Amino acid sequence: MSETPPSVSTVLQARHSVRAFLPAPVPLQVLHEVFATALRVPSNCNIQPWRVYVVSGSQKEALAKALQAEAAGGKPPAPDFEWDVRFCGEHRERQFGAAAALYGVIGVDRHDRPARAAAMLRNWAFFDAPHAAFFTMQRYLQLVGAVDLGILAQTLALLLAERGIASCMQGALAMYPAPVRNLLGLSDDVGILFGMSFGYADPDAAANSARTERVALADAVRFIG
Ligand SMILES: Cc1cc2nc3c(=O)[nH]c(=O)nc-3n(C[C@H](O)[C@H](O)[C@H](O)COP(=O)(O)O)c2cc1C
Repeated sequence: MSETPPSVSTVLQARHSVRAFLPAPVPLQVLHEVFATALRVPSNCNIQPWRVYVVSGSQKEALAKALQAEAAGGKPPAPDFEWDVRFCGEHRERQFGAAAALYGVIGVDRHDRPARAAAMLRNWAFFDAPHAAFFTMQRYLQLVGAVDLGILAQTLALLLAERGIASCMQGALAMYPAPVRNLLGLSDDVGILFGMSFGYADPDAAANSARTERVALADAVRFIG
C-alpha cells in the first residue's frame, strides 16, 4: 500500500469484479484490520446481524472440491434464502451485457453451453482466490438483514481495494450450502446469504479485463426539489 491511500472515489472508479487470483494469501494482520474497520458500517437499529466466515488454506481447497462436485453433478441449487428471481426487461439486458463482457474476454461463445458451464464452475473454485468470505445471518431476518449484509460486503470490498486486494461478490456461493454449512457448523436457524472470493488479482488473466457498463446518472437518480 502506498503512503497515502487512494480516496474512496479513486477506488470506486478503478474497481471491477476480479475472477482470477494469484495464490499468495493476504497477511492475517491485514485481514484483521480490514474486517475490524468494516464492522464500523451502519445496520438497521444497530442489530449487526452478520456472522462472516473467512475460509482459507487447505480448508478452502477441500471446500472448493466439495462445492464443484455438487455443482458439476447437476444438483439443483438449494440456497438458504430466496434467490430464484428471473430478471426481466432492462435487467435482463444488463445481465446479458455483463455475461457478454466476461465471455468476450475469455473467448466463450454464448451458444456454447459446455464452455459456459465450465466458466460458471470457476465460481465454486473461488476463481483460485486464497480466501472466500461467507456472509451468514439468522434466517428470520430476511430482507432486513440482507440489506445490512450487502452494506458490510461492499464496505469490505472497498477496504480491500484500498490495499490493492481484489474481490468478487458471489451469489453462486449460496447455491450449494450443504458443504459450507457442514464446514462452518451452522445451526439450522442460520443461513448463508452469499459469498465473496478475494485476494491479489492475476494481472495476466483474460477474465480480469472484463468491464461492465453503467446506466447514465439521469436514468438511475432523480434529484427532486
Ligand atoms: C450480490 C452479488 C452477487 C454476485 N454474484 C456473482 C457470481 O455468483 N459470480 C460472478 O462471477 N459474479 C457475481 N457478481 C458480480 C457481478 O456480476 C458484477 O458486480 C457486475 O456484473 C458488475 O461488474 P463489475 O463488478 O465488474 O463492475 C455478483 C455481484 C453482486 C453484487
